[in-house]
Amino acid sequence: MKFIIANWKSNKTIAQARDWLGQITNTSNKKIIVCPSFTALSQVKLLITNYQLPIKLGAQDISQYEKGEYTGAVNGQQLKELVDYVIVGHSERRQYFGDNGEVLIRKVDMAKKYNLTPIFCIQNKEADIPEGVKIVAYEPTIAIGTGFPDTPEDADGIASEIKKGRDLVVLYGGSVTSLNVKNFTKMPNLDGVLVGGASLDAEEFAKIIINA
Ligand code: PGA
Repeated sequence: MKFIIANWKSNKTIAQARDWLGQITNTSNKKIIVCPSFTALSQVKLLITNYQLPIKLGAQDISQYEKGEYTGAVNGQQLKELVDYVIVGHSERRQYFGDNGEVLIRKVDMAKKYNLTPIFCIQNKEADIPEGVKIVAYEPTIAIGTGFPDTPEDADGIASEIKKGRDLVVLYGGSVTSLNVKNFTKMPNLDGVLVGGASLDAEEFAKIIINA
C-alpha cells in the first residue's frame, strides 16, 4: 500500500482543517497521513476518531528535549497523545530553524522513545539517516514548492541507492500534484509521496489519492 502524506506546513486554521477533512472521504487503499500544525492536531484527531476516517495523523516537528523549561517547544510525550508520525529534518526546518546534524539525531531519538514513527526528510542521497529511521522522504530542495519535480526515473534511482542494504520505506516529495503523482507511485523503489502545496486543497488532494 502506497503512502500519501499531506504536509500542510504553516497553513490552515482549525476551521479550515475541519473543512478539508470533511472532503476526504475516499482513501482508496492508500496509507494516508496528514500533518497539520500543532494548533489543529487535537481537533483533527477528534474528527478522525468520531468519523472513523482511515487517516493517520502526523506532526511536522518534535522537540529534541524532554518536557521542561523549553519555551515554545512541543515534546514527544505531548505528541504521543495526538499523533503516530512526525516529520523530522524537512528542508525548511533545516534552512529556517537550524535543524541539523546532532539536533536531528536527538529528534529522531525522542520520536522513537515516545513510539512515534519519524518521517525523515533528506535532500540528497548522501545525507545521513539517523539510526532507527524506517521511513525516508527524498525531497530535492529545488523541487520543493517550485512546480519543477524531479524526474520519476531519477527519484526512483536515488530511492534504490538509499535503500541499498537497508530495510526502508522511501517516499518522493517535491511539486507532486494529481497530474504527476502516478508517475512516482508506479516506480518500483518509491513507496509513496510527501505532498506540500497540492495537499492544501482538499479537492486536489482527493484527486492525488485516487490517481496515486
Ligand atoms: P511541495 O512540498 O509539494 O509544495 O513541493 C513538498 C514538501 O516540502 O514536503
